Amino acid sequence: MQTAYSKEELRNMLAPLRGGRLVLVPTMGALHEGHASLLRQARVLAGDSGSVVASVFLNPVQFDNAGDLSSYPQTPEADLELCRSCGVDVVFMPTPEVMYCADRSVTMEETHLSTVLCGAKRPGHFAGVCLVVSKLFNLVQPTDAIFGKKDYQQLAILRRMVRDLDFPITLHGAEIVREADGLALSSRNVRLTPEHRAAAPSIRKALLEASAAYTNGASATDVCVAVQRSLEAIPGVRVDYVTLCDAETLHELTDEKRLALLAVAAYFGDVRLIDNIELTRRA
Ligand code: PAF
Repeated sequence: MQTAYSKEELRNMLAPLRGGRLVLVPTMGALHEGHASLLRQARVLAGDSGSVVASVFLNPVQFDNAGDLSSYPQTPEADLELCRSCGVDVVFMPTPEVMYCADRSVTMEETHLSTVLCGAKRPGHFAGVCLVVSKLFNLVQPTDAIFGKKDYQQLAILRRMVRDLDFPITLHGAEIVREADGLALSSRNVRLTPEHRAAAPSIRKALLEASAAYTNGASATDVCVAVQRSLEAIPGVRVDYVTLCDAETLHELTDEKRLALLAVAAYFGDVRLIDNIELTRRA
């Protein structure tokens, strides 16, 4: 495994790998089993003849809250170890100064899917994600890229970006990896207090109950109210949003035959957790 710290090193390391399948897994570091699952899927996709590139870059441009950025865990040594153990060929680990020119002045904004869910709560977040991912796409020029479905909205927005800007890249969505008690893996979980960590699996429990209710005919409003109530009953928890929407457009579900998405964001103390589940009506 090779590690590139500059764009030039990355270019040189990738030059001999071009021509075959090149699978990119973008990350912000603090890697956990969820990332390991993305990296292993990338390795399978690339096969013996292709290559896997992981980027480890805590992208300051996508943080709408300075406290969230400064408290975000950083574990570069362990990240490199995990990448090595998952069969990554090249890790790109730039600093913000390497990644961005100080006077950068071009933005990258998706203007429809980004206006709802997390986008409505975190101004500028998805523009920052689109900017860094489009830069990574240009730098790495992968044939494929993998993103987790925990960030469902992010995946939908990046699919739209690839479609609308004709990036010649196939995107793959990977299933959410969970702790045994149902909590979706996240780099932020380590910041939960023991009490909030113990309570956090309630998100998954509420989503599963909602899914059963929706399948059996409960209205979108009733489903959302039930999830909101069960989370609000936990001391120290503040619900940011509970939304049931069309899984593709992320806007209002106008046709119940289509796949729905139930998405939740909630603060456990000052740690913001997100999770989601795809829903269908009983046929
Ligand atoms: O999902 C993430 O970790 C980040 O948003 C991403 C896609 C690596 C861009 O910084």
